[in-house]
Amino acid sequence: MKRILITGALGQIGSELAHYLAKEYGKDNIIATGRSHRNIEALGDLHFEMLDVSDGERLNELVEKNKIDTIVHLAAILSAKGETMPQETWHTNMGGLQNVLEVAKNTGAAVFTPSSIAVFGKDFPLDNTPQSTVMLPTTMYGVTKVSGEILADYYHQKFGVDARGVRYPGIISHLTLPGNGTTDYAVHIYYEAVKNNKYTSYIAKDTYMDMLYMPDALRAVVELMEANPDKLIHRNAFNITAMSLEPEKIAAAIRKHYPEFALDYAIDPVRQAIAESWPNSLDDTCAREEWGWHAEYDLPAMTADMLENLEKKLK
Ligand SMILES: NC(=O)c1ccc[n+]([C@@H]2O[C@H](COP(=O)([O-])OP(=O)(O)OC[C@H]3O[C@@H](n4cnc5c(N)ncnc54)[C@H](O)[C@@H]3O)[C@@H](O)[C@H]2O)c1
Repeated sequence: MKRILITGALGQIGSELAHYLAKEYGKDNIIATGRSHRNIEALGDLHFEMLDVSDGERLNELVEKNKIDTIVHLAAILSAKGETMPQETWHTNMGGLQNVLEVAKNTGAAVFTPSSIAVFGKDFPLDNTPQSTVMLPTTMYGVTKVSGEILADYYHQKFGVDARGVRYPGIISHLTLPGNGTTDYAVHIYYEAVKNNKYTSYIAKDTYMDMLYMPDALRAVVELMEANPDKLIHRNAFNITAMSLEPEKIAAAIRKHYPEFALDYAIDPVRQAIAESWPNSLDDTCAREEWGWHAEYDLPAMTADMLENLEKKLK
């Protein structure tokens, strides 16, 4: 990676990844793009361009004009929001990805595009979910993520596009709030701990899902994109994870810092059903073996860092 364009750069991941890549590759080599100026302040003085990913021509223009060699494609509509607008979710997630892959095919750019644990849904092993297993998602978001994995593999096999990706679990972070997914409770719980010392969870006790702290999620992009391609058997959509969590477990970690922290429940049936259709825990052996993936943050380290940063931000 030398000259990088990021789509959806004002979202939860993009707003941090843009700075991370600027540090690694130089500020002048990063073009952050988004379809509105919402959260633009998070980018500071990084270069920003307006780009709706449904506009393939504009994307091609930006890639050629800026001599981009890698597109990091983050623009998408996430799980819970996707269920309120399934047609638009298909259009944005699949149309956007196809435009990115077409531009990559025409210009020779490499592509990083994240998939999600939402690719799973029915009839798969919930514990230690393997890299390759049944993928029958029950949300439109999951349908687009499975299709996206297959499409990215197709562009690699058919046209030689250097497309790579991971299946992110829930990402926990303190800079930009998540964009209405199912694992968002695991971010909100920390904000509410710092603000009010209590939280009402929309996800039920004992509902396990995998999570990853943002610094690990960012490092994964660079490590996968810089990995030796000859060693990559799976290329797109590697399972990666750090911890399998449910609300009580996070609350117990928070109570090490805030002993009075209170947790109660008001279950959202839509997000609860989605959560129950996703893995309890992932097997990330293929990522470990093929490009050396490992997570650095566990629950206690992440909790200490989240609380410290949110105290600075909110108090
Ligand atoms: N955050 C997570 O927990 C998580 C987990 C698994 C996978 N992912 C994947 O990572 C990627 C980034 O996720 P995120 O959490 O940063 O999401 P987010 O919702 O915070 O950000 C996505 C951004 O894309 C933008 N966007 C939507 N439609 C667009 C369009 N047509 N053109 C241009 N921009 C558009 C949104 O405005 C938003 O700024 C997505 O592909 C998502 O599926 C995220």
